[in-house]
Amino acid sequence: MAVYQATASAPVNIACIKYWGKRDTKLILPTNSSLSVTLDQDHLRSTTTSRADPSFTKDRLWLNGTEDEIKAGGRLATCISEMKRMRKEYEDQNPNEPKLSDFYVHICSRNNFPTAAGLASSASGFAALVSSLAALYKLPASPSKLSLIARQGSGSACRSLFGGFVAWEQGTSPDGSDSFAVEVAPREHWPDIHALICVVSDDKKGTSSTSGMQRTVETSALLQHRIKHVVPERMRAISEAIKARDFDAFARITMQDSNQFHAVALDTEPPIFYMNDVSRAIIALVVEYNRVSVEAGGKLKAAYTYDAGPNAVIYAPKENLREIVEMIVKYFPQADPFKDPFGLFGAAGVTEG
Ligand code: PMV
Repeated sequence: MAVYQATASAPVNIACIKYWGKRDTKLILPTNSSLSVTLDQDHLRSTTTSRADPSFTKDRLWLNGTEDEIKAGGRLATCISEMKRMRKEYEDQNPNEPKLSDFYVHICSRNNFPTAAGLASSASGFAALVSSLAALYKLPASPSKLSLIARQGSGSACRSLFGGFVAWEQGTSPDGSDSFAVEVAPREHWPDIHALICVVSDDKKGTSSTSGMQRTVETSALLQHRIKHVVPERMRAISEAIKARDFDAFARITMQDSNQFHAVALDTEPPIFYMNDVSRAIIALVVEYNRVSVEAGGKLKAAYTYDAGPNAVIYAPKENLREIVEMIVKYFPQADPFKDPFGLFGAAGVTEG
């Protein structure tokens, strides 16, 4: 008997221009466009296997070995049913293909890093889920098309369908059909830029991105300013910086946008604090490192950015990485590279996805 099974994996992406705020919570349509770098470290990925079989009696999903409920009408259910709908269209056009859209699926997913610690596990998770179903269903869909579905699992997931430098265009259509990810530049365009992840804490984060965003949209005046007057220009400027391989401009905008995202969280009622004292100390270190370089007539050498958690991501040209790791280990002697807690794991480039 035929076995219908496929495995796919997707990496984490880390935003330089942050997505924060939904204009449609069901379709997951953002209040602003965003831009990220997809990492290609082997140890920051989700790997997902999907199997369709006529003997299955319902759709089921296991995350890191534990079964997760697929709630009716929830995000997982939406992604699975959207993929089945695409498979059905494909079967209608290719009548000799097996009717996999009629079968239930079993999905098994693993992250090789702490789940929900602000390391964008939902991004790689939903991207891997959609990619594995696309492979199972042999869909000839482009990454942008698949990103429309991954977006409905977790907004930032749409960007993990591409490697390299990726924009999520917010779109204007109420049905979300123009809110998808596009490639700004492939990994090979700027292989010199690397990401260093400093795991400050691998605890589950305090305020989920879903509830945090909702509160920010409802209460923050600063968010409205950011959406209208800040992000559009930053999207343009950082895309240009990437195209020109201008690390100075890339770093400046990345740090400004991380700062504004956390300012917007602080402007929320009640306020949300994602960074802790160690996060802020790492910012001070990077600021000082850059200041010394600039005062000596040089350029910015590193850029920090923080998502909805305390962990630092430092983007830097490869030539500066050793110095940065040494500096961090010097000031945070408990930081033992490749070991938690406060493990410092991995310096790696971006990926082709
Ligand atoms: O996709 P979500 O719901 O996990 O939200 C991600 C939000 C940030 O990581 C803070 C920013 C971003 O653009 O990835």
